[in-house]
Amino acid sequence: MTQPLADFRTAMGQFATGVTVVTTLDGDKPQGITVNALASVSLEPPLVMIALDRRRSIIPALEACGRYAVSILSEEQQWLSDCFAGANVTPGREAFCGAGWDPGKLGMPLLRGAIASIECTVLNRVEAGDHFLYVGRVDHVVLQDETAPPLLYHRRRYLRIERATTTSVAGKPESPAD
Ligand SMILES: Cc1cc2nc3c(=O)[nH]c(=O)nc-3n(C[C@H](O)[C@H](O)[C@H](O)COP(=O)(O)O)c2cc1C
Repeated sequence: MTQPLADFRTAMGQFATGVTVVTTLDGDKPQGITVNALASVSLEPPLVMIALDRRRSIIPALEACGRYAVSILSEEQQWLSDCFAGANVTPGREAFCGAGWDPGKLGMPLLRGAIASIECTVLNRVEAGDHFLYVGRVDHVVLQDETAPPLLYHRRRYLRIERATTTSVAGKPESPAD
């Protein structure tokens, strides 16, 4: 491509996504990384794919474990997205961001308060430029809160879904003319 890379980044920045934290176990220690490059790639069998930069520090643990979980974040969990993306916060990533979690059926760390979590076994790793694509077989799904608004990412910023709603008044109107 002869065009500047910045144009590609700007174009892809227009593609709004959700935000997830991909987790795995390093021995018995949970590890996580913020990921928006997630795609559902097949229904039968159910497969998902995540794209990780080859330099990501979670890769040795993920490959040794052969499994990962994807937790889809709610709006309330922006702090987890920041922390698992390496923000300078306390507790930090070395302390799993102080996040509450429960082991799923495969033992992968599922973040408490996430909208949904998916546990996967790595089927294959595809080399794609400076990234690795990990295709995971979906082994187990936990739906935690299907109604919570998701955290979104757009133009390299967080985006929140407008939640203004109106509801009908059950009591009597203020004046008889209303
Ligand atoms: C919203 C958001 C989405 C991200 N998505 C990805 C992704 O899909 N793949 C990836 O490799 N890094 C992604 N990152 C970057 C990593 O989370 C971040 O660089 C992390 O600190 C890498 O950790 P490491 O330096 O220990 O490897 C994303 C960051 C943010 C804030």
